[in-house]
Amino acid sequence: MFNENIYRGFLTAENFGRNILVFDETDSTTIRLLEADTPYYTVAVAESQTAGRGRSGRKWISESGVNLCFSVNLPPMKIEHLLPFNIAVGFAVCDVLRSTADVKLKWPNDLMAGGKKLGGILFETSLSGSVTEKVILGIGINVNMTDFPAEIKDIATSLREETGLSYSREELLAELMNRLDAFSEAFLKGSINIGSEWKKYSASLDKKIAVHKNGVKTVFTERGITPSGFLIAEDEKGLITEIVTGDVGYDFSG
Ligand code: BTN
Repeated sequence: MFNENIYRGFLTAENFGRNILVFDETDSTTIRLLEADTPYYTVAVAESQTAGRGRSGRKWISESGVNLCFSVNLPPMKIEHLLPFNIAVGFAVCDVLRSTADVKLKWPNDLMAGGKKLGGILFETSLSGSVTEKVILGIGINVNMTDFPAEIKDIATSLREETGLSYSREELLAELMNRLDAFSEAFLKGSINIGSEWKKYSASLDKKIAVHKNGVKTVFTERGITPSGFLIAEDEKGLITEIVTGDVGYDFSG
């Protein structure tokens, strides 16, 4: 069971994760924070989720007790900051995981290692007009998982699979909170240029990517992201298109 005392021993963040809710089992840590009235930066962590949510309406599958499934309740932000912030969070998570494995990002923020998915980041919001009322950051990372269900066996990996090591989830979560704390301050001050930083993290910069939109697959070459976080894609004729989050699926092939 996740040990809060061990976690606190590694926590130095001033804001992120100082208040923590630990669930043995819950539907989804994101749903818990959307429905509860908790202080900003509260982290909810679950050993097991019965309705874990992934991007594009998919389920998030995670083995009980060996991985990290957590969500953080963030202060409201402007809608146009959501995508850049979302991407900056990916940088912060990569920075922490890169102390042990070669982790990269697949746009906008799938965590990739060894060509497979190691984890994912999903923001969920409730809106009041053009202002976010609730902003919940949800992160799932496969940490010590070695037994992968058939449906994700070929596409998923874990830190343990990549390195052969086993990890303290408490220490890892605390390090993530520490890094996100520093990173979100830098982001809010405007000192992170996501367009240039992206080049350090992308798994597919200058490589062929396949973009799926409305059932149609188009092959592009990835050329980076814009300051707003849109993917810059070059088609086979050399024409540049900006791909906006939400309207495409995306995978490596082509
Ligand atoms: C993705 O599909 O890549 C994003 C996955 C995000 C999963 C995490 S696990 C903790 C939090 N609770 C959820 O229900 N989803 C997110």
